Amino acid sequence: MKESNFGFKKYNKEEHTSKVKEVFNKVANKYDLMNDVMSLGMQRLWKKKFIDSLNLNKNENLTFIDLAGGTGDIAKRILSKYKKEIKVKVVDINQEMLIEGKNSFKKFDNVDFICSSGESISITDNYADVVTISFGIRNMTDREKCLEECYRILKPGGIFACLEFSLPKDILLRNLYDAWSYGIIPKFGKIIVGEEKPYKYLVDSIRTFPSNEDFNEMIGNAGFINTSIRQLTGNIVCIYRGEKE
Ligand SMILES: C[S@@+](CC[C@H](N)C(=O)[O-])C[C@H]1O[C@@H](n2cnc3c(N)ncnc32)[C@H](O)[C@@H]1O
Repeated sequence: MKESNFGFKKYNKEEHTSKVKEVFNKVANKYDLMNDVMSLGMQRLWKKKFIDSLNLNKNENLTFIDLAGGTGDIAKRILSKYKKEIKVKVVDINQEMLIEGKNSFKKFDNVDFICSSGESISITDNYADVVTISFGIRNMTDREKCLEECYRILKPGGIFACLEFSLPKDILLRNLYDAWSYGIIPKFGKIIVGEEKPYKYLVDSIRTFPSNEDFNEMIGNAGFINTSIRQLTGNIVCIYRGEKE
């Protein structure tokens, strides 16, 4: 049976999915705050660059899917950048994360929240102009299946964009990054959320994610063309992009 990495441990599909759900159940109510603390606020800049990198025509009535959208942070940024007529669907496997986000979207009637797995997305074929996934693909039990699903739900010509953590190539930055991730982040988890373990998983999972080149190849294998990689902040994060033919 195929196993998936949960940090450095391996579990079968069902166990992996339930372990990831458990992590996000635990962190949901402090998720946005912890993101700022863990990244020293950098996540805001990374997400801004991610949305800017989509480089879309602002006058079109586009349909967006934000997969693994959690509390809806990316959806909010999309809504504030594009015109009112766009449609956004936030898809996430974790109801707790969606509930946490939903309250802040009351004034929008063009956003839906869908509780669905990214490996079997309950959205019809050729639906979206854009599929975004920010800090989500790393947590998927079956990443290949998720990429195939992203391809399926995009219209021909549609854009897939993925923001994900990566690892700095510069030795000095890598040492600082490791010291911060293992020495400080779990401690903040303990103080703010009351638990270190979910944050140990989050930092481990970055170390077991494929290299930029390997992940870019996986995107190509799912059928995407014109794929590209853009490294940010010394490759602490990376933006991947592809198009459906
Ligand atoms: C690190 S959070 C990212 C949230 C948000 N996209 C952001 O950038 O802040 C990862 C999200 O992936 C979701 N997730 C994990 N596994 C998933 C799966 N198999 N299908 C859909 N969502 C999943 C989690 O519930 C969580 O909300």
